[in-house]
Amino acid sequence: MKNILITGGAGFIGSHVALELLDSGYNVIVYDNLSNSSEESLKRVEELTGLSISFYKGDILDTNHVKEVLEKEKIEAVIHCAALKAVGESVKKPLLYYHNNITGTLSLLSAMEEVGVKNIIFSSSATVYGDPETVPITEDFPKGAPTNPYGWTKSMMEQIMTDLHTADPNWKVILLRYFNPIGAHKSGRIGEDPKGIPNNLLPYVTQVAIGKLPYLHVYGDDYDTHDGTGVRDYIHVVDLAKGHVKAIDNLDKLTGVEIFNLATGHGYSVLDIVKTFEKVNGVKIEYKIEGRREGDIDETYADASKAEKVLGWICDNGLEEMLEDSWRWQKNNPNGYEE
Ligand code: NAD
Ligand code: UD1
Repeated sequence: MKNILITGGAGFIGSHVALELLDSGYNVIVYDNLSNSSEESLKRVEELTGLSISFYKGDILDTNHVKEVLEKEKIEAVIHCAALKAVGESVKKPLLYYHNNITGTLSLLSAMEEVGVKNIIFSSSATVYGDPETVPITEDFPKGAPTNPYGWTKSMMEQIMTDLHTADPNWKVILLRYFNPIGAHKSGRIGEDPKGIPNNLLPYVTQVAIGKLPYLHVYGDDYDTHDGTGVRDYIHVVDLAKGHVKAIDNLDKLTGVEIFNLATGHGYSVLDIVKTFEKVNGVKIEYKIEGRREGDIDETYADASKAEKVLGWICDNGLEEMLEDSWRWQKNNPNGYEE
């Protein structure tokens, strides 16, 4: 297994996956329509690794184009990161989300089937568990009801790939359920570059730290957690990216549909994040406690021991490193990839 296609490879997670794959000796081909990213991320990955990426600007909805690329580049496995991911926007524009994420995935899978590429690693999410009855979450927990169309697209895409394997066991399907990816590559050259006001906690915190936003809105302090604010399992994006490399490394020995939680197994609250960020980076984060955000849950964190046991994957970075690296990226690139 050598030639790996990453859909959505110019994005936050895809660009980190591209870098780790190149560093591990794989050939990386990226397919992205740049709807939420910039080609600059890939140029920086090339600069950091001294290796080159074959980049195709295209939409996964364009089945024929995807097919051409799969054949031309002799692709052996696909890491499928391409998706729209803004939860709030998905509530307002469900058709856009279902079309892009679901129809897009059907188009990609049809192209793969037609050319006989039957190895797929999918960017799934902890959101498919819904509101779990207990924590930590293991992979055999039942799927729950996502609270928004984005979450449903992830859950449905998992089902589509699972059904595909049932119909044709030659398909290998690895569902990677990410918990909350944060941080950035240690170089400070690649990182998360959200368009407009960030939805997720970390980019919001770093934009407060740099003075672009006045204060953090803390969504609720009456949750059933140690300090009342929401608890999540934050994972360093580089550790997450390495999980993809381990999945590819182990593809030959995996059969069927395999699910892995990619997480650290530790839960931290919003205020833990604020205080640790202030401590390790020496920057004050102004915040105000506000009402709960619709659809949020109290607490979620994972048991990620299956990925360790089966793939030999472990996380190298703790919360302090994640927050230092998020800040380095933001500080060095106040406007993201825009010069
Ligand atoms: P991102 O927006 O930075 O990357 C997604 C990439 O997909 C972008 O570069 C975008 O241009 C591209 N894309 C979108 N639709 C496309 C299409 N139709 N054709 C071609 N390219 C298309 O997001 P990310 O944070 O890197 O997330 C990557 C994947 O991981 C997504 O599938 C997301 O749902 C999933 N995920 C992300 C998180 C998170 O917190 N970031 C958590 C769980 C799961
Ligand atoms: C959110 C999405 C989830 C998606 C994930 C990764 C919702 C309901 N869920 O998860 O579907 O898979 O992002 O993209 O949006 N918080 C604040 N202030 C902020 C932002 C967040 O207090 O400005 C709090 C939240 O209430 C939560 C925690 O910080 O307790 C983490 O929030 P966030 O980064 O948005 O991730 P999730 O809610 O876990």
